[in-house]
Amino acid sequence: MYADGERIPMLTAYDYPTARILDEAGIPMILVGDSLGQVVLGYETTVKVTMDEMLHHTRAVVRGTRRALVIGDMPFLTYATTDEATENAGRFMQDGGAQAVKVEGGVRTARIVEALVKSGVPVQGHIGWTPQSQHGLGGKVKVQGKTRDAARALLHDAIAIQEAGAFSIVLELVPEQLAAVITSRLRIPTIGIGAGPHCSGQVQVVTDLLGLGTFRPKHARPYADLQGTIADATRRWMADVTAGTFPGAAESVRMDDNVLDEALGRHADDRVAGTIPDMIPLDRDL
Ligand code: KIV
Repeated sequence: MYADGERIPMLTAYDYPTARILDEAGIPMILVGDSLGQVVLGYETTVKVTMDEMLHHTRAVVRGTRRALVIGDMPFLTYATTDEATENAGRFMQDGGAQAVKVEGGVRTARIVEALVKSGVPVQGHIGWTPQSQHGLGGKVKVQGKTRDAARALLHDAIAIQEAGAFSIVLELVPEQLAAVITSRLRIPTIGIGAGPHCSGQVQVVTDLLGLGTFRPKHARPYADLQGTIADATRRWMADVTAGTFPGAAESVRMDDNVLDEALGRHADDRVAGTIPDMIPLDRDL
């Protein structure tokens, strides 16, 4: 797509049904993001997300995907050394079924990216706002690269990750002009989130896209209101249950009344003269 000058859409997914729908809709890349921690598991940050949790959800996404490239997001502290990175990337690909992994960090992560790529693991980089380092970045979600030095550092980060062999780079929370410059200097695609319209592609967290999140980031545009849809369906179903109109005939199954009569000993053949006609069998008879 990049070679053809097409913009590349990427969405996150964390489960089988969502992955299946996105894949059938034609999304070319699915990221099993460690945003899993916040948007699905209810953690405060992504720092708590473990390899086992990521693998569990990656397997579900892979089962729901036929065409899309599935990228597993390496969680915090799972790629601190090249050995750990190789082992955990291997788990994503062999055990999880992902076709690539994503790692956060620029210059500081370049040697890890290089080791992974040399081992045959396709790697997507991620620079700008990198949630796993949020405690080191001041704790508060913040646009990166706004000062002269920070902008230059980001450019260095992008080039270091490209030279290490990554096949693309996520740019998160970067001013749009800087994202445009980084995109034009690279020969691999940039995938932006909160990085303006001039990246080679865009990524969104699927719950933001679908209106299913508890908080709406400035960079997100909801294309559905699933929170409202789910709440409405829940209320209508509860009302039907309390009114006794769910389940109706369409949602129920009937059996042959004669068979039930036989089972309960109420069949004509069971009625011996002089016995009680509607005999209820004792538990031991059943
Ligand atoms: O974990 C995630 O969802 C991400 C995207 C925001 C790129 O890293």
